[in-house]
Amino acid sequence: EKGGFEHFMMKEIHEQPKVVEDTLNSVLKDGKIDLTEVGLTEEEMKEISQIYIVACGSAYHVGVAAQYVIEDLARIPVRVELASEFRYRKPILDKNGLVILVSQSGETADTLAALRESKELGVKTLAIVNVVGSSIAREADNVFYTLAGPEISVATTKAYSTQLIASYALALQLAKVRETISEEKYCEMIQELTTIPRKIGKILEDKERIQWFAAKYANSKDVFFIGRGIDYAICLEGSLKMKEISYIHSEAYAAGELKHGTISLIEDGTLVIGVLTQDHLYEKTVSNLVEVKSRGAYLMGLTHYGNYNIEDTADFAVYVPKTDEHFATSLAVIPLQLLGYYVSVAKGLDVDKPRNLAKSVTVE
Ligand code: F6R
Repeated sequence: EKGGFEHFMMKEIHEQPKVVEDTLNSVLKDGKIDLTEVGLTEEEMKEISQIYIVACGSAYHVGVAAQYVIEDLARIPVRVELASEFRYRKPILDKNGLVILVSQSGETADTLAALRESKELGVKTLAIVNVVGSSIAREADNVFYTLAGPEISVATTKAYSTQLIASYALALQLAKVRETISEEKYCEMIQELTTIPRKIGKILEDKERIQWFAAKYANSKDVFFIGRGIDYAICLEGSLKMKEISYIHSEAYAAGELKHGTISLIEDGTLVIGVLTQDHLYEKTVSNLVEVKSRGAYLMGLTHYGNYNIEDTADFAVYVPKTDEHFATSLAVIPLQLLGYYVSVAKGLDVDKPRNLAKSVTVE
């Protein structure tokens, strides 16, 4: 049942090229994105004044990445919120807004409550959901199904990756309909999206390197993930993967925030993982890495091939293939999933069923 892998998590990590491709293909027609099945019309897409993305956990991290992508491509203001906060704060929603709920299970209690609250306020809702016929899928006005298939490991990997792809497809279509990107750029970016599954596969070929590093750092007390912009969204997910299955305390920090308090935690040997996929932010993040290094941090740098000068600063470098920067999350998250996995294995923990956690959080 584990397809020759030792754990469901590793099996699901390896299913990512396929499920990402399936999800993308489900909305591709003649080289263009077609959201007919989702049910959002061009008229509706043109009228959206504001987007609210509401979710929990990793699905919330998809929202953080999607915020950067949608705002940059479609120029629509996006707000991302934790469902458990949204539902109790009497949200003020624009009547031409769109609330996007992201959920693998479609049963997360807080996300479902946020959906109901939004509908009560008369705002249009769109769910990005994996489980067909789940409560959130049934109650939302529109549904974008991710085709991740059943996910058994408590820590999400493949569902997260398909949610990302869904959010890129949505962002590109909004941008096209609202004419915030050219037709040429639109086609070029779709072309690039179709290369993502192959590039994920390529990263998986290199997993022994991460395994080696994980074994070496399995006894860390704390890990800090730092990055800016989309790289910060990647850090949030990398950090959650690490803490939930390896029980190592980890934090994700927007790199520029470090010196507002957290840098005091850096001591000799503290592991800091810098994520640097966004070229316009590269030098800024490198300077933050230099700052923590001078306080004794041991640095892992995660960037794309070509940025070899990361080795001037980082003690250990991990490279992923280059892609359009908007889609970088899909690639850079893979080594971080592997890192969490291998640290958990090295510590002899129950990878698929970490303590205190349930796959589907149907109570508050
Ligand atoms: C982390 C993880 C959780 C879920 C969260 C939301 O690996 O799996 O953080 O992402 O509980 O669950 P869904 O997507 O089912 O609403």
